[in-house]
Amino acid sequence: MKQIQCRIAGLLMAMVAVGMLAACEGQEPEAQKERILPPETGQDEAVKIGFSMDTLKEERWLKDRDLFRQAAEKLGAEVEIAAANGDDALQIAQAEAMIQGGIDVLVIVPHNAEATAAIVHKAHEAGIKVIAYDRLVKNADVDLYVSFDNEQVGELQARAILDAVPKGNYAYIGGAPTDNNVHLIKKGVLNVLQPAIDRGDVNIVYDEWTDDWAPENAQHNMAEALRANGNQIDAVIAANDATAGGAIKALAAQGMNGKIPVAGQDAELAAAQRIVAGTQTMTVYKPIQNLTAQVAELAVQLAKGEEIMTSVSVNNGKTEVPSILLAPTAVDAGNLADTVIADGFHSKEEVYQEAKND
Ligand code: GAL
Repeated sequence: MKQIQCRIAGLLMAMVAVGMLAACEGQEPEAQKERILPPETGQDEAVKIGFSMDTLKEERWLKDRDLFRQAAEKLGAEVEIAAANGDDALQIAQAEAMIQGGIDVLVIVPHNAEATAAIVHKAHEAGIKVIAYDRLVKNADVDLYVSFDNEQVGELQARAILDAVPKGNYAYIGGAPTDNNVHLIKKGVLNVLQPAIDRGDVNIVYDEWTDDWAPENAQHNMAEALRANGNQIDAVIAANDATAGGAIKALAAQGMNGKIPVAGQDAELAAAQRIVAGTQTMTVYKPIQNLTAQVAELAVQLAKGEEIMTSVSVNNGKTEVPSILLAPTAVDAGNLADTVIADGFHSKEEVYQEAKND
């Protein structure tokens, strides 16, 4: 009897144990499944992009900042933006903070092409890929370079000015030598001018970089060029509209504004107004909306570990950087409406209102 009782008791206990086990098993597997999946995959976490900018000083960079944020957020990404106002140490510190802050990919507009190589190293140490935006970072393993074709920018400028002044004395107002673009732009200018120089038709009587792209430095340099050549200058090619504006102020001081052709770049509003007023001949339009849309998409792809193939590469002194170079457009009074205004880059009202201070 006792034996049967014990067995029954044992069974009951076993059943209770099984029951309890079943109860536990029921619970346990669910919790585990949930806990395993979400944190690791990160599939549905928003990609976090760091956008390290040199400056917001020129009009175009405000557009780059706002259009890039819009394009990236449209793709569901988060964007952290910092501008270093031309300060190399600050740009490095800002990028480091972004890297430590957990960005998934870094997009950088370098102030100084060489100094920012350190940022690329730091990003790679943290497993973060780097896109050089508009300007190349030199001597570093940059993952991707996306810009407009800067050599073509120079060619478009020189072609327009050579058409207007096939023979004469030229002044070249270059950009900031810390910016790799200025060397590409100047190469493009010489690609077009060299044959005329070799024929003795064109004489570059003044050729200087403009520190920090500052209009006041360009104005000073242009005044120096006019003084050194007894105002015998027939054409000016300036690396962008900000420096062209400075040069035109120096020309105005000699009563020469609107009398000699001037080339610029960036299709700034003031430049479009100067083209209408006749004090600037042309500018080079670079549809920023195309650049920001492409880079936002590529940044998200890189952050997700996708491979990006490009048909072009640019050597940055260390490696052949996979690159995408967008087409710029020459703009003068004849096609302002079909380009800059048609794209909504500037409104017709803005462009045709009086240009200030020229
Ligand atoms: C260059 C850029 C130009 C110009 C300049 C000044 O790198 O390509 O569009 O604006 O910087 O910031």
